[in-house]
Amino acid sequence: MVRVQPASPLALRGTLVSFAGDPFVVGPDEAVRHESDGLVICRDGLIEAAGPYHDLRRELPPDIPIADYSGCIISAGFIDAHVHYVQTGVIASPGERLLDWVNDYVYPSEEAFEDEAHARAVAAFFCDTLLRSGTTTACIYCAVYPQSADALFAEAETRNMRVIAGKCMMDRNVPEALRDTAKTGYDQSRALIERWHGKGRLLYAITPRWAGSSTPAQLEAAGALWRAYPQLHVQTHIAETEEEIEFIAKLFPERKDFLDVYEHFGLVGRRTVLGHAIWFSESEFCRCHERDASIAHCPTSNLFLGSGLFRLSCAKAKARPIHVGIGTDIGAGTSFSQLASLNAAYKIAALN
Ligand code: GUN
Ligand code: ZN
Repeated sequence: MVRVQPASPLALRGTLVSFAGDPFVVGPDEAVRHESDGLVICRDGLIEAAGPYHDLRRELPPDIPIADYSGCIISAGFIDAHVHYVQTGVIASPGERLLDWVNDYVYPSEEAFEDEAHARAVAAFFCDTLLRSGTTTACIYCAVYPQSADALFAEAETRNMRVIAGKCMMDRNVPEALRDTAKTGYDQSRALIERWHGKGRLLYAITPRWAGSSTPAQLEAAGALWRAYPQLHVQTHIAETEEEIEFIAKLFPERKDFLDVYEHFGLVGRRTVLGHAIWFSESEFCRCHERDASIAHCPTSNLFLGSGLFRLSCAKAKARPIHVGIGTDIGAGTSFSQLASLNAAYKIAALN
C-alpha cells in the first residue's frame, strides 16, 4: 500500500516545480517556479523548508539522510478534479460515443459494486494507482450503492488521502438495478455525510450523476441536501456532447439551457464542480463565473469518446474567468496520470 505521509524527518533532492500564481492571470514566467537542483525538508508530514540544494544543505542536521531524486521532478501532489473509481475496469473500452458507451460498458461495471468486497478491492487498487501517479487529492464518483462509497472512503482513510467523493444519485434512464429514488438517494447520501464528511482528510460531494439520470424530484432533493449541508461540494456532468444537450432539452423543455437545469434546483455555487462543459454557450460561461462554480476539464476522456474540444482559453477569459481543474475521468479517460491529462489538454487547446 502506498502512503501519503512518509516517515519523518525527510529530505528530498531533485528538480523542484511549484506555482506562485495563476498563469492565466500573472503569466507563465511569474507563475511557475523552477529550481533545477533543489531540496525539500519535511517533518511530521509538513514541508519545513524548500529551496536551492546548496543553500539548504548547510542547514540540514547531518543525521538526516537525503533521498536523491536528481533528474526527477518534485512538486505538490496533483488534484484529479473528476474521476470514477468504479470505472477502473472499463478503461479503453472501444467503439462508442458517450451515451452508448455509458450504457454498454459503464452501467454493467457499476452493478458489480453492490458487492462490498469487490468495491473494497477496486478502491484499494484505485487509491494506490492514484498515489503512484502523483495524485494526492481527487473528486471521485462512486456507484449508486452507499457501500461503494463506504469502501472508497475506508481505503482513502488508511492512506491519509484527501478525497472528495459521493455516491451517485440516479433514479431514471439507468438500468433498474442501478436506481435509487429521490428519497433513498437523499437518505443514503445524508447517512454517508454523517459517517465520513470531515473525518481526517475526507470530504463528501453531493453527486447527482447528471440531469439525464435524475428526475426533477431527485434534483430537488439534491438541492435540499446542499441547503442542509452548504459546506459540501456538489459534482455532476454537463454539456459533454451535443446529443446529450438535445436529450436534456427534451427532458427539461422549460429550462433555457443545460446549466439552467442545475441552477433551477439550487445546485450551482462556490463548491460546484461541473464535469466537461465542452459545449457551453457564452451565457453559461458567464453564469458559471457569476456563481463562482468550477469546471473539471477532462482532456483524455474527451478525446477518447470524441466528445469535443473544450475551450480552455474561453473559459479563462479575463473578463469572466472560471476556475478550471483537470480531471482524468477514468474510465472514459485513458490514464491515471495528470501529466498525460495535461499533455492532452495542451493539444486540445492548440486545436482550438
Ligand atoms: N455522463 C454521465 N455519466 C457519465 C460517465 O460515467 N462518464 C462520462 N464521461 N460522462 C457521463
Ligand atoms: Zn465523468
